Amino acid sequence: MLAKKYHLFIKNLKNNQIKLIMEYKLKKENHDFWVERLKSNPERQVCTNDVAFDDVEDNEILKRLKDNSSILEIGCGNGVLYSKISKKIKNFSYLGTDFVEDLVKVCKKKTSSKDHKFIQQDMTDINIDSFDQKYDFIISKRAIQNVLEQKLQLQTIENLGHFLKEDGVMILVESSADAQNRLNFERKKYNLHEIIPPFHNLFFDDEKIKDYNFNNLKLMEISPFASDFYYITRLIYARYAKEFLNEKTSYDHPLEKIAISMASNNNTKKFSQIQTYIFEKK
Ligand SMILES: C[S@@+](CC[C@H](N)C(=O)[O-])C[C@H]1O[C@@H](n2cnc3c(N)ncnc32)[C@H](O)[C@@H]1O
Repeated sequence: MLAKKYHLFIKNLKNNQIKLIMEYKLKKENHDFWVERLKSNPERQVCTNDVAFDDVEDNEILKRLKDNSSILEIGCGNGVLYSKISKKIKNFSYLGTDFVEDLVKVCKKKTSSKDHKFIQQDMTDINIDSFDQKYDFIISKRAIQNVLEQKLQLQTIENLGHFLKEDGVMILVESSADAQNRLNFERKKYNLHEIIPPFHNLFFDDEKIKDYNFNNLKLMEISPFASDFYYITRLIYARYAKEFLNEKTSYDHPLEKIAISMASNNNTKKFSQIQTYIFEKK
């Protein structure tokens, strides 16, 4: 289930059991980055700089969830998505997981339901013993892209598949390297600088995901739901700011608001730097 080369074996001295911990590129820096964001941002900006677009991303998940279901969230952050799920979905059980203990503590204060739990868990350490039930929905939003090794990203998705019910759905809203390359190709024509992922992200390689032979999952769809948003903000508004306004782009500009209102129109398809990857059980 797990690739050997990433293992770190830790001996738990209390009961002499061996625990497996995965090591990967910049894991500690990544962890510390999220700790710092929690300390230095207001609640809505801990996990994003673009709050308006964050709502669009969340809707990609919310619109697919159903009442009376069980939900496992990977990388639950400070529980912003959890709070929205609580408002929209009736009678659900939920387990939120994140590798930052301080974020988990914040989440715990947001619930009084005995069916809603939060635990500290590194997603790359998940194995067949990690959870004691299977879920109707497994969700994540810009969380798996924090794992900076492609093989380990794919393995993490595979390992999560074990916890999906037979008719369950895995909904991953994550960034696409392919879509970002297509955006950059267009930007270059207008002398706009190349957009590069932040140091703590490795965007998904869509072809690798499509070709990967998951043992227990089928990739059903990659939805480029935000293509028009990226086309307007990263090409049209970016050109307008550079060529006519002579200023940097800002999330508060009216064109950002227009882009949000047209985000899901899907007139374009190829520029969706964030996409929804939908998996079902094989
Ligand atoms: C963009 S935030 C998403 C927050 C939350 N889903 C929300 O929408 O409110 C990504 C989260 O992934 C978590 N994360 C990053 N690497 C992780 C790992 N290896 N295991 C578990 N969580 C991780 C971060 O701590 C962060 O809280």
